[in-house]
Amino acid sequence: MVKERRFAPERTRSYGSQTIETLGRQQWLDRPSYRLEHVLTLIFATFGRRRERVSNVLHGTWLGHPLHPALTALPPGAVATAVTLDAASLLPGRSAALRDASRLALGVGIIGSLGAAATGATDWQHTHDESRRIGIVHGLLNVVATALYAASWWDRRRGRQLRGMAGTALGYGFTVGSGYLGGALVYGSGVGVDRSGPRLEVDDWTPALPVTALDGRPQRVEIDGVGVVFHRDGDDVLAVGEYCPHLGAPMSDGWVDRGRVVCPWHGSRFECKSGDVLKGPATASLPSYPTRIRDGIVEIRGSEEVVAR
Ligand code: FES
Repeated sequence: MVKERRFAPERTRSYGSQTIETLGRQQWLDRPSYRLEHVLTLIFATFGRRRERVSNVLHGTWLGHPLHPALTALPPGAVATAVTLDAASLLPGRSAALRDASRLALGVGIIGSLGAAATGATDWQHTHDESRRIGIVHGLLNVVATALYAASWWDRRRGRQLRGMAGTALGYGFTVGSGYLGGALVYGSGVGVDRSGPRLEVDDWTPALPVTALDGRPQRVEIDGVGVVFHRDGDDVLAVGEYCPHLGAPMSDGWVDRGRVVCPWHGSRFECKSGDVLKGPATASLPSYPTRIRDGIVEIRGSEEVVAR
């Protein structure tokens, strides 16, 4: 039997996806994950009434985009600078200024790692199953990398320059591995990606359902191939997207509370008319559409910005 030869990039891709799949199957990681989640819940509880504001800041709800990916660029960039300066400082005739600059870059990397850890842990606590398992390994690699950077910074300060350089280079290897897993979480599992799905693009008023069908429970109706969820809110009828932008929860299981649409999974709250996020963990808006009632029938059209495109 002739064995099929595979090219190196294909093999690398295969090892990469096998690693991700293997990590995703490690159910023994669930127990430490739930313990860590409880610790995070206790930490957030210490903020009392400011808890919601703090978690909105860390999720990036105020930014309209997850904050974690923005902060993750800082540590690898700063540490790569430190490694480059270290290498340059080893060349003959180079001054101590390069070593000082390298320690400064490493310090920036350590501060960036702490920011990335805080935002990453806040996002991670809402993930499930495979994403949660890959996420905890991703976090663990970052903890090891940050510990190595901190030890390296201290070594440099005490004059143990070569040991410090080795610690930084080793930590950078952990950061690269962790970055690979982070990429799998975003591009493979869709963590941090807007999961609300396609938008309704009809520009004419379109009949959707009889108003009497809204008997206190949300109703999902498919219009032009796009799922829309209708809620009755007093005299108004609200129409929103089928999936929560955070992790794709079915909004037909959600509810309306004091003029806000609430996600059934992690409690994100969206302004009824605009779909703007008022409380995370979601960071992207929930699609929302104008409605009107004609002869007992609820009619709907695409939201203004979608129709105007
Ligand atoms: S799926 Fe997480 S808040 Fe909606």
